Amino acid sequence: MTLLETTPTETLSVAMRQGSMAEHTEAENAGFTSQLLEGKINELGYLHYLEALRTVYGALEKVGRTLLEDPLVGTLHDLRLERAAAIDADLAYWSQRAGVELGHTSAAATAYAERIEAAAANPLHYVAHHYTRYLGDLSGGLAIGRVLGRTYEVAPEAPGLAFYEFAEIEKPKVYKDGYRAALDALPLDAAQRETVVAEVKVAFGHNQALFEELGQSLAAYQR
Ligand code: HEM
Repeated sequence: MTLLETTPTETLSVAMRQGSMAEHTEAENAGFTSQLLEGKINELGYLHYLEALRTVYGALEKVGRTLLEDPLVGTLHDLRLERAAAIDADLAYWSQRAGVELGHTSAAATAYAERIEAAAANPLHYVAHHYTRYLGDLSGGLAIGRVLGRTYEVAPEAPGLAFYEFAEIEKPKVYKDGYRAALDALPLDAAQRETVVAEVKVAFGHNQALFEELGQSLAAYQR
């Protein structure tokens, strides 16, 4: 018997989650993230974080739209998920509230966006980037939005935290179940699945690098 025949089959969605568990814990514990959730990051810090995310989602959604007809990506990318317009609305709010012009650059965000842009030629990689951001946004992201609402005293649906609102997705839990089912239905062989899981780790690594970069300015971001 080959190894493949004796290994119990793990679905792709489970492999992606299991494969990034350690990285996920690291992201939750990053200095910038934990300070953000403890309410210790000021408007400038949040603005810079959002600007970095805008670079990332710009790439994610540009490539997602070019791959809408791709047999793998086409079953996952959904315009209702897109965040760039929500981030733009939030950026206008936070730039005004922080009293700072937009235009902060981030080497980590640029590197992350470049990796996503390269995935235009590699749909398996794109699937990994798609999962890492959007399933995260639909999971912990929603709780993070509520914490930030309390920290910054932004009422639900008031301008400022649109990034965390998926107006067109009524039931995130149901949506996530459907998303995982779509992942599990992708016609991939073992090597292709490994490629996807490995790229999820790369995607988490880019998020970590982003937090580390923000972490270097914690003194300027103290609230
Ligand atoms: C601020 C720190 C974070 C917190 C508190 C957090 C919290 C959570 C929680 C509670 C879940 C599970 C939700 C559920 O069971 O449905 C989750 C899932 C997830 N998070 Fe995070 N998260 C954080 C950061 C991140 C980051 C930086 C990423 C990557 C960009 C990320 C990506 C994901 C993904 C992909 C899932 C879905 C896992 C799966 O079910 O396959 N998270 N997060």
